[in-house]
Amino acid sequence: MLPTADSLAPEWLVEPKDANALASGVWPASAKRDTDGALFLGGISTTELARTYGTPLLVLDENEVRARARAFYRSFTSAAEAHGTTARIYYAGKAFLSTAIARWVTEEGLNVDVCTRGELEVALAAGVDPARIGFHGNNKSVSEIERAVEVGVGTIVVDSAIEIERIAAVTARTRSMQRVLVRVNSGVHAETHDFLATAHEDQKFGMPFADAETAVARIRELPGLDFLGLHCHIGSQIFGVAGFRESASRLLELHEKLRAGGDIPLLNLGGGFGIAYTSVDDPTPIEQLAEEIVAAVAEGCAARGIPIPMLAFEPGRAIVGTAGVTLYEVGTTKDVRLGSGASRLYVSVDGGMSDNARPALYGAQYSARLASRAGEGRPALVRVVGKHCESGDIVVDHEYLPGDVTPGDLLAVPATGAYCASLSSNYNHVPRPAIIAVAEGRSRVIVRGENIQDLLARDAGISTNEGAQ
Ligand code: LLP
Repeated sequence: MLPTADSLAPEWLVEPKDANALASGVWPASAKRDTDGALFLGGISTTELARTYGTPLLVLDENEVRARARAFYRSFTSAAEAHGTTARIYYAGKAFLSTAIARWVTEEGLNVDVCTRGELEVALAAGVDPARIGFHGNNKSVSEIERAVEVGVGTIVVDSAIEIERIAAVTARTRSMQRVLVRVNSGVHAETHDFLATAHEDQKFGMPFADAETAVARIRELPGLDFLGLHCHIGSQIFGVAGFRESASRLLELHEKLRAGGDIPLLNLGGGFGIAYTSVDDPTPIEQLAEEIVAAVAEGCAARGIPIPMLAFEPGRAIVGTAGVTLYEVGTTKDVRLGSGASRLYVSVDGGMSDNARPALYGAQYSARLASRAGEGRPALVRVVGKHCESGDIVVDHEYLPGDVTPGDLLAVPATGAYCASLSSNYNHVPRPAIIAVAEGRSRVIVRGENIQDLLARDAGISTNEGAQ
């Protein structure tokens, strides 16, 4: 028997009965097909969206973002209350930041975590109360620290001993008081792609446990700094609570020791909560995460006989990831047969690694569906690729699409709300796509797409740009 196309499919990918079905948990709740089979997002046809705004197009479902922000806020707040404390949720802006999303999440009760001057300025431009901003980063410049202190950010998360002196110098000059957390490296390596795991020892973030006591003692000596508590972030796209539980238990040991030098009101356990990119991903529900993580901290505190501190968390991906769907137009299809007889249909779209670098960077898996119509024919094993001059320019590595997928079709890739726009580039001088928000049958641009003029604007060899700095 000849090998079939399926022999190129990875084990986890099962040929679906219906290659038009929208897997639950991967798409925003508003994703539906109408009676003609066309995909609707936020009550609007994706064909109409593509016609109005062009492709590629990143569509963000506002209600999905708000619902997830609310779910985090409510679940962690009520779990914290049940254990006699309170919780603060910071939306990690690195996942995707624009003024619109900063407003949505703060309206739903969240604070905002930023890690550069640029992110800080977006949050401020959105009108976020600086007291609700947390500032991160392993190499904040003096001018970034000055700006953060000047506008009055709520907390700065200290990442090194050098930074303590830098912040102290700024507060001394400006006669101000800055609340700070100390980021430590708990050594917990959450099971995820290696590049996404940030708290195993041999990496750049946070302070080793062994150095944290000296750092906190130094902060406590400085009149312009107010030590709020410890911070740890163990990685990203984490399923389950085991990693958080372990990290919390290690942090509490240090937290207890540090209490000898004074009260410590807060413990920040970072972000990293995973989402479903394909139908085989099974993230832990937010309510369960909240209950189990908060209970673990409460138990740890009870065992040590110390009061449970106020808790903080920093979800990024889990707020915005599932709310995003990228629409592409299919340009070419190509049946690639291997010597073995196995074959795969390459489907090329009008974007790629410039609007979604995650498959190339992390081997991230995505899924895809025809959007302009429901397709027909036996499902074909496809690889969706972009238009860049690079063989690693993959959008969806393995997927089944209706066998009649053809040039001109609109293709939708779900779960692109987090770390796609943030990591986007102009590789091959491809303009970055527009980002639009949809809700209740209405759409609007929240970040305009780039055009050719934008691409040429920084080239000093073009006469109209001469003299521009
Ligand atoms: N807090 C801190 C201190 C972080 O470093 C991060 C992410 C977060 C919160 C939010 O993590 P989340 O809840 O979104 O997983 N570019 C990679 C992810 C890098 C994450 C960096 N830090 C990706 O595309 O998967």
